[in-house]
Amino acid sequence: MDGDPPLVSSLNSTTVDFDLSPEQQSIRKLAKDFADKEIAPGARERDRGETFPKDVLRKMAPLGLLGGPVPEKYGGIGLDFVSHALVTEEVGRADSSVRTTLSVQISLVEMTILKFGTEEQKQRWLPSLCKGEIIGCFGLTEPEVGSDATKLRTTAKRDGDSWVLRGRKMWISNGSVSKLALVFAQGDPSKEAKGITAFVLERDRQSYGSQALHGKLGLRSSDSSELILDDVRVPDANRLGEIGDGFKIAMTALDSGRYSVAAGAVGVAQACIDASVQYATTRKTFGKPIAGHQLVQELIADMVVETEAARLLVWRAGDLKDKGRPNTRETSIAKLYASEAAQRAADNAIQIHGGYGFSDEFPVERYWRDARVNRLYEGTTQIQKLIIGRFATGIDAIG
Ligand code: CAA
Repeated sequence: MDGDPPLVSSLNSTTVDFDLSPEQQSIRKLAKDFADKEIAPGARERDRGETFPKDVLRKMAPLGLLGGPVPEKYGGIGLDFVSHALVTEEVGRADSSVRTTLSVQISLVEMTILKFGTEEQKQRWLPSLCKGEIIGCFGLTEPEVGSDATKLRTTAKRDGDSWVLRGRKMWISNGSVSKLALVFAQGDPSKEAKGITAFVLERDRQSYGSQALHGKLGLRSSDSSELILDDVRVPDANRLGEIGDGFKIAMTALDSGRYSVAAGAVGVAQACIDASVQYATTRKTFGKPIAGHQLVQELIADMVVETEAARLLVWRAGDLKDKGRPNTRETSIAKLYASEAAQRAADNAIQIHGGYGFSDEFPVERYWRDARVNRLYEGTTQIQKLIIGRFATGIDAIG
């Protein structure tokens, strides 16, 4: 026994702390108050009218909520990643369309420029993104390329000090409202993933085109567009990262984006609980509130358990991000579980609301429609399973 470390001290060194710091509690409250007062009340009308939430974004900017985790010197408020999830959950609880707009702006665009941009690029783009003066989008997916993101067909051809980009990008959140697009293009198809390079396009200078897509099941007030790149000339100064590093940059961006989607999904699940408890404690059948019926309580209890499990998975991924440790696996677990849990919660919530749940008189049908895309975008549930399975087995079942 002589050489063994004392049990107590080794336990102490692995303490898990679930308490939020005073600063985390305070940013969570700020986000909650803002979401309740400024986001939730207009959500149904924006959904009905497919109205992009630009007024909401305008009000969020002065609070620093458009640049949460970006350091102050680049225009953000320097939130830690757990705080970033707390804010994102609150926004997602109120309106997934606003949350999607924010996830793309912050987690896919700002955080990627922060990580891979030169000092000059960060100074040039981050402050105006964080202030909401410009909206950014993330152009990876194409009409014929989704999960198999190494197979991009958009091409980048070098021409002196510039590149010429040609192709189409599909399902691009914020595409039509964007002034800046982070676009991935193939410069050397023989190299597959290692031929892909990332570029930042500025609409005012590189004049890329866009076409808004309509008729979506959910996220109806967020913007989803096709990006049109017809020989768009981009200076080499707008290249993000090294030539051929684009795929890794995209994957790193998705580790950040998936975290944000997961946090937003927790928000949806929480909204389902809140709406269901409110309804079930007031609506009566058989002479008592429906919350007094065991089968209704079971639906609510299932929602509570899954929502809390999802939230803890998000916080764990956030904790790893805060410590600068690898988190791809944990982020995929959180994204997968939270997306699926939110969908089940929304389904339960509709069941509890009965016929009213089928109408937009109550918000739960919107939660159900909006939750659906979390299982698709930023890597489908199946892609997350393949990533998790690859970590578990060491065997690559992708492709
Ligand atoms: N971070 C950093 N690097 C990573 C990485 C990560 N998370 N994942 C992979 N890489 C690196 C690998 O290390 C590897 O580099 P080396 O060759 O030097 O070792 C390289 O990238 C290739 O990786 P893989 O072998 O893992 O690539 P793969 O072909 O097996 O594909 C995949 C992996 C996980 C399936 C990936 O293609 C993927 O995530 N597909 C889904 C795409 C997706 O999520 N699209 C969503 C679009 S964005 C969106 O929805 C935006 C919107 O507007 C809402």
